[in-house]
Amino acid sequence: MKTKILKQNQIDEAVNFLKNAELIALPTETVYGLAADATNEEAVSKIFSAKGRPSDHPLIVHLDSFNKIQEWVEEIPDAAIRLAHYFWPGPLTMILQKRKNVSDLITGGLETIALRIHKHSIALRVIEKLGTAVAAPSANAYKRTSPTKPEHVLKALSGKIAAIIDDGRCRIGLESTIIDMTSAVPVILRPGAITRLMIEPVININIQEPLAHQQKVPGNMAVHYQPEKPLFLISMEEIRRRLPQEKNVAIMHHSDIIETKNATYYRMSRNKSEYARNLYATLHTIDATQVNKIFVEKPPFHNEWLDITDRLHKASST
Ligand code: TXA
Ligand code: MG
Repeated sequence: MKTKILKQNQIDEAVNFLKNAELIALPTETVYGLAADATNEEAVSKIFSAKGRPSDHPLIVHLDSFNKIQEWVEEIPDAAIRLAHYFWPGPLTMILQKRKNVSDLITGGLETIALRIHKHSIALRVIEKLGTAVAAPSANAYKRTSPTKPEHVLKALSGKIAAIIDDGRCRIGLESTIIDMTSAVPVILRPGAITRLMIEPVININIQEPLAHQQKVPGNMAVHYQPEKPLFLISMEEIRRRLPQEKNVAIMHHSDIIETKNATYYRMSRNKSEYARNLYATLHTIDATQVNKIFVEKPPFHNEWLDITDRLHKASST
């Protein structure tokens, strides 16, 4: 199969592929998603083979409007309604009790379902014209770095999917915040651009944000988001200490450092949003070079940076 590159105005073509049970990559504000018609099991099953993803890993279902939520969930707690009104469309995924008729293929056999309304006008129009919803995990090979540019998607999935809508670089660059709304005290399962400190005042509940949450959901693993090169998340002191023994290393840093010849330096922003936007793109760039390992300076210890810290931990080899 030759993967077609669609422009922003080729929405009808994208919708036709989905109606024919094909996969297409869609831009969202977080990362590119790999979309299938969520009501078509044949289409949804193709997601798992294209990504090499185990079939018990649940998928996020993307809606284009809040009105469609009843088709997917049993009941919506008041707090979830408030979060939806406040943060959707946006980088927030909510876990809710699924309706009985939702396919186990989507939820990996769980009684719950992950739902999101992202904020990308083109991809929203595709879902709206399709008339149903799309199941869409990140458009990368299983366990690998998520795609924030069309070329990242093509590197992993070219020839395996019908098309990609090319809308350049994703604005946020890290996956959505996932919050489990099925318990009395909501739990953040994956930190993202919408932080605990932004959520709590909206629902007036202190929510849980375990650093490494215990819930055993397939797909939430200690190792994930990995670049091809081994990555070490260490302090600047540790980088300076180890550097003389290295021959060919990439260094991602946000503090000042004196450059040496045995390393390639990637200066990251001290601004959190800018760092997040460039994180995966930098890892993809480094993967395409000849270095044999990556040293990443530990990001600042601050609630706002938790999503970056989480992804770097999961990308690291130590
Ligand atoms: O920003 C994003 O959320 C991107 C874009 C494409 O929307 N999507 C994304 O999907 O990151 P994926 O499949 O790569 O990650 C979804 C995560 C997985 O770790 C999965 O385990 C978790 O969501 N998940 C899905 N359904 C769940 C459920 N019912 N309960 C708990 N976790 C769930
Ligand atoms: Mg993913």
